[in-house]
Amino acid sequence: MFDFLSQTFRNFKHTGAVWPSGDKLAREMTSSLRKSSGPKRILEVGPGTGAFTSKILQSVRPGDEFHIVEINPFFCNVLEKRLLEPFRNRHPDLNVELHESPIESAPIEGAFDHIVCGLPFNNFPPSLVRGIFKKMLSLLGENGDLTYFEYAAVRVMKAPITSSESRRNLRRIDAHGKRLHRRHHGSRQLVLANFPPAVAVRLFQPTS
Ligand SMILES: C[S@@+](CC[C@H](N)C(=O)[O-])C[C@H]1O[C@@H](n2cnc3c(N)ncnc32)[C@H](O)[C@@H]1O
Repeated sequence: MFDFLSQTFRNFKHTGAVWPSGDKLAREMTSSLRKSSGPKRILEVGPGTGAFTSKILQSVRPGDEFHIVEINPFFCNVLEKRLLEPFRNRHPDLNVELHESPIESAPIEGAFDHIVCGLPFNNFPPSLVRGIFKKMLSLLGENGDLTYFEYAAVRVMKAPITSSESRRNLRRIDAHGKRLHRRHHGSRQLVLANFPPAVAVRLFQPTS
């Protein structure tokens, strides 16, 4: 918790939250992995201190591949020491790779069956949001799913306290989310038992 807070104060633009996600949200964000059968390729973007990572690790089986992309070297270090090193010691045969990089230029190749994304999109400029979704969707295989989250009613809550330019940006990000939702048969699941309450949004990659 302290690790997360320290990075929130140093780097709010990238961290974008004051609190790591709770267990209920982590379960919702990773639910499609537990329904999946057969070998799968999984990508997590923006793990922070690993609220979703620890749940994903519980679903990794022989033959699977799990790639993690995190921009912040401090979080990479925490993840490696707390979760990944002990996991690799227990399961030397399982394939888990951490990439210290922004997702925009991460050295990874698709296709992934599941992408779990913890990025704080409402803190980013709209052009960056569009670029990141384009990249993630290009990495998503046919019938794959991409799950991200946003805080419930975040735009309504932020609107009165931000500048008119920020409000315009939030509206653009919202509009982009709605377009993706239509194009990728999106579904939304409200998780009230999180601080703050959040919505897990799932997008699907249709078969071509
Ligand atoms: C809101 S925190 C979420 C952490 C965790 N998933 C959770 O829910 O508790 C966002 C994370 O995304 C990372 N991040 C921000 N921009 C990124 C980018 N362009 N590429 C990869 N990671 C990024 C931040 O460093 C931070 O760890």
